[in-house]
Amino acid sequence: MIKAIRGMRDILPPEADRWQQMEAIARQVFELYGYREVRLPLLERTELFARSIGAETDIVTKEMYTFYDRHDESLTLRPEATASVLRAVLEHGLEKGAGVKKYYTLGPMFRYERPQKGRYRQFYQINCEALGVDAPELDAEVILLLLDLLGRLQLGEMRLLVNSLGCRQCQASFKAALQDFLEGKSRLCDDCRRRRIANPLRVFDCKSPHCQAMLQDAPVLQDHLDPECAAHFARVLELLAGFGVAYEVRPRLVRGLDYYTRTAFEVVAAGLGAQDAVAGGGRYNGLSQELGGPELPAIGFAIGQDRLLEVLPQDLGQRTALKVFLAALGDAAREKAFSLMQELRKQGVAAEMDFEGRSLKAQMSMADRLGTNYVVILGDREMETGQAQVRRLATGEQEQAPLDNLVYLASGWVAEK
Ligand code: HAM
Repeated sequence: MIKAIRGMRDILPPEADRWQQMEAIARQVFELYGYREVRLPLLERTELFARSIGAETDIVTKEMYTFYDRHDESLTLRPEATASVLRAVLEHGLEKGAGVKKYYTLGPMFRYERPQKGRYRQFYQINCEALGVDAPELDAEVILLLLDLLGRLQLGEMRLLVNSLGCRQCQASFKAALQDFLEGKSRLCDDCRRRRIANPLRVFDCKSPHCQAMLQDAPVLQDHLDPECAAHFARVLELLAGFGVAYEVRPRLVRGLDYYTRTAFEVVAAGLGAQDAVAGGGRYNGLSQELGGPELPAIGFAIGQDRLLEVLPQDLGQRTALKVFLAALGDAAREKAFSLMQELRKQGVAAEMDFEGRSLKAQMSMADRLGTNYVVILGDREMETGQAQVRRLATGEQEQAPLDNLVYLASGWVAEK
């Protein structure tokens, strides 16, 4: 039998219902904050990711699904969405005009990582990007949105980690200091030896315990922030504190992508083990220019949906649609049930019936399996009297309802289970 590829999985009911609830809540929150949706291709030119995420990053060196198409063009399944959002913004001139431009996008990303709990090769992100403004108020607003959304999703214990990566000048000064620090270190792993020369910031991504231990005394970016970047970061923190947000400044938080400048952040959740980052983001003020666009400061984040769902409550509190099952016995009753079912659906009530002439008992257990709230029972007697039996499954209560008025009455029923 053919099975799904390693690291890629099927999301089936009832789990898929939770995904829908999560996404519905995300869409509501984005609307409250003035974001609009963009839907982007899953395939892009490889160069887009190589240039934006950075040639020395793990994502670009080890994790991309890259292949040549029939015209020998190198294409890559997107490992993240920020580069694509910016590509689309620049391609369609959406950056023009004053003020902040706010976009969100949902969908699958692809990274060839070693699969484990909370880590997949096809995974899903809720992505938020705000472009055109460098004000620290926007950083605070984006972080508040993220926390608001996570709160509405009822994420329990979480921690917000923040840092500032400064601008490109601050980073140049920091990289020089880091290179000096790494100079005398002989037992760095092969990757870090290469990173030390090509892109020293990336040594912080190294998973080798030896390299990590060595980095304990490494210089920190905060000591290299110029006055503007330091003031920007201080203001972001001041705003967050003003809103009562508990944050932890993490001087070694550099994030795994090269495009970040100034504010960078992650949210980690309890109960996830090693892969505990449920969201990450930051500013990427230089990325537009690196892709050949105009100066366009921007900030955003992505939530890892697969991981987040593992620590959310089973029921995300979205109202479930009322479901009615029409249990019919006999040809005339079945025909009536079919037309009632269509009427109910037109009125926004989910309705089902049996097409296989099963017994009442079998139909009742089918209704139960489908998570039905009410069963309408229709037999010869009900057809004669014009009164159907309506059973509320949660309580077992049964009452009569006039067939002619059933669709109207159903709009007053409640979807409790
Ligand atoms: P990222 O930190 O690479 O950032 O990914 C964001 C989140 O996606 C992670 O915190 C994690 O929850 C989830 N994630 C990443 N890889 C996997 C995986 N293999 N399996 C399951 N979940 C995963 C970005 O992608 C940036 N584009 C975020 C951003 C938006 N920065 C600015 N705007």
